[in-house]
Amino acid sequence: MAVLSLLDPIQKEITDPADIKSYMNGRGIIFEQWEASMPLKDSDSQETILKAYEHELKPYMEKHGYQSADVINVHKETPNIEAIRNKFLSEHTHSEDEVRFFVDGEGYFFFHLPESREVFKLLCEKGDFISVPKGYTHWFDLAPRYFVKAIRVFQTQEGWVANYTNSGKEQKYNL
Ligand SMILES: [Fe+2]
Repeated sequence: MAVLSLLDPIQKEITDPADIKSYMNGRGIIFEQWEASMPLKDSDSQETILKAYEHELKPYMEKHGYQSADVINVHKETPNIEAIRNKFLSEHTHSEDEVRFFVDGEGYFFFHLPESREVFKLLCEKGDFISVPKGYTHWFDLAPRYFVKAIRVFQTQEGWVANYTNSGKEQKYNL
């Protein structure tokens, strides 16, 4: 279950899913919670995972024009895990929406709204779905657990290459 932490200019923690959804939606970010249509095991294949969430995933993909979906599974033993972490740890944008559904594990999305100077972070966990609009300044951290199993959807593989802002904004907030 997600936890939203407002970091700047006010500090506040929000745990109620309806309040989180309303806060995120108010800032242009889609946030939902999905349930699997069948029980999943740690060893389940990508195909089984996609099947378990097809009832939510398929309508979403059709509505928003997505072509493909996959499942990433990153954990402490994944080769080059620090390099993978570092890739998205600096503030960046993408040229298409960043869509993630957390099947298991966790990750922190940090958001920075340059105009209002707001900074907030969202801990995403099992059952949390998020779509960060293209061009939105954000960064992402795997730490401290280093375990993310997530469904990604794409229009193009190139779309979610990180375009770094080089603002250094993340330095105040990262572990
Ligand atoms: Fe990103």
